[in-house]
Amino acid sequence: MPVARTRFSVLSEDFAADPYRYFAPLRNQAPVHYEPAIDSYFLSRHEDVKRVLTDHEAFTTETLQVRAEPVMRGRVLAQMTGAEHTAKRKIVVRGFTGPALQEQIRAIRANAAELIAPFLTRGRMDLVNDFGKPLAVQVTLDVLGLERRDWRQVAAWHGGIAEFITSMDLTPERRRHCMDCAEQLEAYLLPVIEQRRRHPGEDLVSRLCAAEFDGIGMSDRDVTALIFNVLVAAAEPADKTLALLFKHLIDRPEQLAQVRRDPDLLGAAIAETLRFTPPVQLVPRRAGQDTAFAGGTVPAGATVFCMIGAANRDPAAFTDPDSFDIHRPDLGVARSFTAAAQHLSFGTGLHQCVGAAFARAEIETVAAMLLPLLDQVRHSPGLRYQEAGLYTRGPVSLPLEFTPVRAGERRLGPTL
Ligand code: HEM
Repeated sequence: MPVARTRFSVLSEDFAADPYRYFAPLRNQAPVHYEPAIDSYFLSRHEDVKRVLTDHEAFTTETLQVRAEPVMRGRVLAQMTGAEHTAKRKIVVRGFTGPALQEQIRAIRANAAELIAPFLTRGRMDLVNDFGKPLAVQVTLDVLGLERRDWRQVAAWHGGIAEFITSMDLTPERRRHCMDCAEQLEAYLLPVIEQRRRHPGEDLVSRLCAAEFDGIGMSDRDVTALIFNVLVAAAEPADKTLALLFKHLIDRPEQLAQVRRDPDLLGAAIAETLRFTPPVQLVPRRAGQDTAFAGGTVPAGATVFCMIGAANRDPAAFTDPDSFDIHRPDLGVARSFTAAAQHLSFGTGLHQCVGAAFARAEIETVAAMLLPLLDQVRHSPGLRYQEAGLYTRGPVSLPLEFTPVRAGERRLGPTL
């Protein structure tokens, strides 16, 4: 069946301003939406998105050769399959699970306490730009074993790399800028890789340098690409999730009060935030063969974008999907951060997010610390809330006010 052509475009300003308004019409009227300007198909139903992400033989990650590889300096995990993928994924995951995780949680707490301190007496801050973004980059640098003090520079390079991967219409000038960012980050990393090969530590860069696959160590290029991989994958969605969590709770004072009373509910609040407003909105694949869906056929060789935000709001998957409810029975908190998750915010199948449990630990730790500190937290007066991003999406800023901490007053717990 041919795909129905509509004048609606996911590349329009209206869609960019509020994609959530369009998800139900897309699922109902154009579940296989064709976008001629970029010759790509957009799938919005939960069932279809899940099918594409789990059938990795029919839908490959070959699009990443063009979308990611030029700026990643080599192949990333999402481009690998079979024994190579299993082995390298295992090495990466060891960098932020088990004993490494406990150490990192302590570092996250100390780091977050340092970042928030100057704002406490002022009684206001922008949760995205003053706190969430620096924290997400610094935490990722800690995991990798890179210098936290270089975070501004790394964040700037990271921004260029992420722009390349997530843009739908990159001008030649922006493309050059993105490539420069990638080259400079690579030049920054090469001496570090050389040093870790000679003097390994417990950090992820050292583990990657020491790892062997099929009896052969990884080249500098292989290691660099995996460092880029973790840097981009971990930092980009974490600050967005934290800001969205606070936005949704502040907008629903009853649920905020419940989480304040019982911080054990934070896991559910984070899972529901991820379902309701996933920071990774699009996951690309290439169709290996002609594939029929209810709304039409995707031809072999076509680029397909899985619309995670639309799939998570599909009434076939969740009851009353457009309401934010930390108590919803159809989510399942524990499974929401595993391969059994019903929401698709971490992807699903072979390439499901390797950092899901770490992301939960990171955001839960930080939110549990912030809530008692931000007494009477509310949006700043005159807030003009705006989200940005088609591929990854989150608040541009989130200015908050709260009761200032007076000199001598302690709201930080003894563990800090
Ligand atoms: C809320 C936070 C996060 C979200 C929403 C998220 C989302 C995702 C998604 C949707 C994918 C699948 C991509 C695909 O199928 O092509 C993915 C993969 C991945 N994520 Fe995450 N992620 C998060 C945090 C993290 C963190 C903290 C790390 C590392 C510390 C991480 C590392 C990775 C890696 C390495 C992959 C590729 C896995 C593979 O191809 O086998 N992510 N993530």
